Formats: sequence, C-alpha cells, structure tokens
Amino acid sequence: MPKIDIPSLKDYSSTSLDGFFQAIQDSFEKEEAKVHTLDELEDLRIRWIGRKQGLMNQIGDVLKRAPAEARKDVGTRFNRLKQQIEQSLEAEPASLAPSAAPTDAIDITLPGIRPTHGAEHPLIRTMQEIIRVFEHMGYSVGVGPEVETDYYNFEALNFPPNHPARDTQDTLVVANQQHKPLRDRLLLRTHTSPVQIRTMERTPPPVRIVIPGKVHRNDAADATHSPIFHQVEGLCVDENITFSDLKGTLDQAMKELFGSNVRTRFFPSFFPFTEPSADVQISCIFCGGKGCRKCKHSGWIELLGCGMVNPAVFEFVRGKQPAYDPKKISGFAFGMGVDRIAMMKYGISDIGLLYSGDMRFLEQFA
Ligand code: DAH
Repeated sequence: MPKIDIPSLKDYSSTSLDGFFQAIQDSFEKEEAKVHTLDELEDLRIRWIGRKQGLMNQIGDVLKRAPAEARKDVGTRFNRLKQQIEQSLEAEPASLAPSAAPTDAIDITLPGIRPTHGAEHPLIRTMQEIIRVFEHMGYSVGVGPEVETDYYNFEALNFPPNHPARDTQDTLVVANQQHKPLRDRLLLRTHTSPVQIRTMERTPPPVRIVIPGKVHRNDAADATHSPIFHQVEGLCVDENITFSDLKGTLDQAMKELFGSNVRTRFFPSFFPFTEPSADVQISCIFCGGKGCRKCKHSGWIELLGCGMVNPAVFEFVRGKQPAYDPKKISGFAFGMGVDRIAMMKYGISDIGLLYSGDMRFLEQFA
C-alpha cells in the first residue's frame, strides 16, 4: 500500500483544518475503492485504524501539537473522521468476495458415500409379526405406561399386598414413594398385563386386544435374562368365551407364527389373574418334536402363559365399567416373551445382543 503523506498543517484555522481533514478523507476513500477481497479489507483496516501502527494514530500525534484554544475543534473533527472510517470499513464486507478459492469445493469425480438403509430391529420385527397374526383374527392394539402404579401392576390383577406371587416378579420400584399408599406407589411394570385393566376400565365388553410393550425386572443379566425385555399380552372378553376359544386361538396363532406343522399343548399353571391358568408349549421348531439340544431333548418348548380371566379381576374393573359382570361375561388372556421368540426365530444365543446396539449384529437384519 502506498504511504500517504500526512498533509502539513500551517495553522489551526478552520480553513486549514478543513483542508487537512478533507485530504486525509480523500486518501482513505481512494484506497477503499481498490479493495476487492476480505483480506484486502482487513489490510486496509489495520493500516488505518490498527491499534498500534494505524495511520489515524499518527495523525492524532500530529494534532497533539495543537495550541490549547484549537484543541476542542481539532478533537471533534478528528473523532468525526475516525468514526466515518470505522463505519465504512464495517459496512463493506457484505459486498466482498471471500479471499481465497473455497477449499471444500465438491470433487464430482470421487465415489459417493452410500447411505445405509435403516432396518427394523429384530425385536420390533418379531413384535410386529405377532401383532399381525392377531390383527388377522380381529384384535386391535393397545399400549400403556412403562412406569406403572402398584395398583395396575399387581393389586387389580389380583396380587394382594404381600402375596407370595409378587415374589415371582422381582420388581424395580421408583425411589421415595413410601409416603404414598401402597396402591399409588410407582414401579417399572413387570409385565404388560396392567394394560388389560386399563383397557377394560376404558371400554365395555366385547374386547379383543393385543398389547405389545417393554417390561422391567430386577433380574441379573445372563444369556437368557435381561432386566429389560418385551412381551405381547392378549385379552379377549365377551359373552360365552370358553377355554376352547383360548386353546383354538393360541393353537392357530402359533401355527401362523412358526408354521402349520407346529402343535401346542397346555399344562396347568398359576397366575393370580387367570383361573384356571396354563402354560403353553409348542412342538420344537428345530427338530419337529423328535428331541434335540434346543428343546433339551423333550421335543417341546415352553412359550407362553395364559388362562381364563379370574372373576376377581372383573370385580376390580366393575367400579368403572359395570358391564364386566362375571356372571354375564367371561374371557381369556395370554402373555408371551417377544425376546425369546425373536431369539428362536433368528438363532440368537445371547439376549444381551438385542440390547447392545452393536452394528455388526444389527446389520445382519438389514
Ligand atoms: N403376565 C405374565 C408374566 O409376565 C404372563 C401372562 C400369563 C399374561 C398369563 C397373561 C396370562 O395375560 O393370562 O409372567
């Protein structure tokens, strides 16, 4: 950049000062007109108003020699010019090109990055398959909260307080609930069965519903246990629903899920909310019932719990929906573990893989 000659100042009369400042302003404007890039603008800024070496500082030094009576006039003019310069430097950048050629320009000859397609998680896929089977039979889908009250998770399902059946579901409870009555205390639901109660409280019979969802238990993790797992619950309530309906429904559902060769058998069991209760086994899908390592050489695999809805459960609901009169209606319910079914279907040996988020595992389902 050219050096500018700071004009000489003969005296401090108004006319001399006008000429002096005008000359400086002209020099600035001439230089400013030549600026085309942001870098050049920055150079101009440093040259004129840079804190140490800026021209305006040098000009200020010249003016310091002004006699006392001219000081005020000189100061005002100096500040006005400095402000003008600052403003035009600030206003400039919008119209300027970036200094260098952009370094991130696209090279269209490089191979692209192929976007990976998302895929349904094996648990979700299995859940959807189960739901679809029941949807074909006229069931609808319901959901409920994962943080549940003791009332819905236990009491209304006929687990009285302190009943030993509660011990079969090692429960994770929400802290600091002791001040509440037991039925209002919060916990992580141990099964999807509470949604049976919530559904019946909202809708009079007939009800045909499947309830998929996540459940929690305080189980130590190993190859077949996880503190988080998934269930699909089912509930069917109407007039004249019998155990035969339950057997027929589940037998048909298992055939649709695992293939039409699959057979089912029912064993007596116990759940407080069903009476009678049963465990359902299906013929081993790996060996067809001959006996193999997968079915521990029994030919059968235990898959779900079920039973006829206990009249005591209807009694809990009747306060809100009087139509659940156990003398007039009956129903069945069932519950199955989605994780186990997914593991069987896809040959997964460790339940932890379903929750690890490991892409090498998940990519196999894409
Ligand atoms: N809630 C039971 C559990 O988690 C499973 C179950 C069994 C659900 C029988 C039902 C049923 O609806 O009728 O172990």
